Amino acid sequence: MAKRILITGASGLLGREFLKAFADDSEWTTLGLAFSRSSDGLKKVDLTDPVQTAAVVREFKPSVILHSAAERSPDVVEKNPEQTKKINIECTQNLCQLANELGAYVIFISTDYVFDGTKPPYKPGDPTCPLNKYGMSKADGEKVVLTANAGNIVFRVPVLYGHVERLDESAVTVLFSKVKDPSKPAEMNHCERRYPTFCSDIGQALKVLADSRVKDSSLTGEFHWSGDEMLTKYDMAVIMAELFNLPTSHIVADTKPAQGAPRPYDCNLDCGRMDALGAVKRTPFREGIKLCLEKHFH
Ligand SMILES: NC(=O)c1ccc[n+]([C@@H]2O[C@H](COP(=O)([O-])OP(=O)(O)OC[C@H]3O[C@@H](n4cnc5c(N)ncnc54)[C@H](OP(=O)(O)O)[C@@H]3O)[C@@H](O)[C@H]2O)c1
Repeated sequence: MAKRILITGASGLLGREFLKAFADDSEWTTLGLAFSRSSDGLKKVDLTDPVQTAAVVREFKPSVILHSAAERSPDVVEKNPEQTKKINIECTQNLCQLANELGAYVIFISTDYVFDGTKPPYKPGDPTCPLNKYGMSKADGEKVVLTANAGNIVFRVPVLYGHVERLDESAVTVLFSKVKDPSKPAEMNHCERRYPTFCSDIGQALKVLADSRVKDSSLTGEFHWSGDEMLTKYDMAVIMAELFNLPTSHIVADTKPAQGAPRPYDCNLDCGRMDALGAVKRTPFREGIKLCLEKHFH
């Protein structure tokens, strides 16, 4: 099988790590797509425009379409359901049709928010039951992908952190803005359980899956990948303060459920299917977050 991977959302927090993981292996030919941040050799495409999208996909002729582009902020999605539908569902449908036409398969990046968080751990194949519009849009995207072709893959991950351009690029690193400023009390959610996952680990895990799939075409359907440390946002904030020798007295635990779009309580993902494919690194949170925050500490 030709190893040609088209990566959507390659300018995004996670897409950048996917691009790195595949570009480092000369056996794979990669093309990264972006929209507003189409620098560094990324091709500019508005994925909500089916004509533009089809032209790029047909020209590149991928064997795999790794679809990471999305609107992924639950609060933005609650306010803009129509725009979200275009990128999270309709564009996914279009990419699946193009993949079918070219004999390629799709890997759709999805989220633990397709579950309601009441019955962890969640196994691949468990029924989805999202609580908010973001989770619903991703669950609908999953259905499109799994119905379009039995060879397609849904790859679910939980809240991410990585090498951010700005602290507010990740729901984890954004906490550091308040941690760094001991002059004001910083209320941090100490209710919902999270499993913050390092994007470069996800890049490596996904690469293991794509390489395994070259040898074993039965690797289809749903897969999960997640860090294994359960932390609330309050726990994460305290760790960040400790790592940079900052005070913790201004960090206040808020034990009420998060405000805004409803969030699931505990979506711990069962990663057994991925673990069975071979050892993949899970960077300890303290180690990964330190690497990501160092350049933002001033
Ligand atoms: N972030 C999380 O904590 C998290 C957790 C679980 C699952 N996920 C899933 O992981 C995937 C990646 O998330 P992320 O955090 O990397 O997202 P991100 O940093 O917000 O990046 C989104 C990407 O989508 C691209 N995009 C958006 N609209 C587009 C359009 N109309 N045409 C072309 N490209 C478009 C953006 O391109 P430009 O920036 O160049 O415009 C960007 O590359 C998503 O599928 C998300 O649902 C994320």
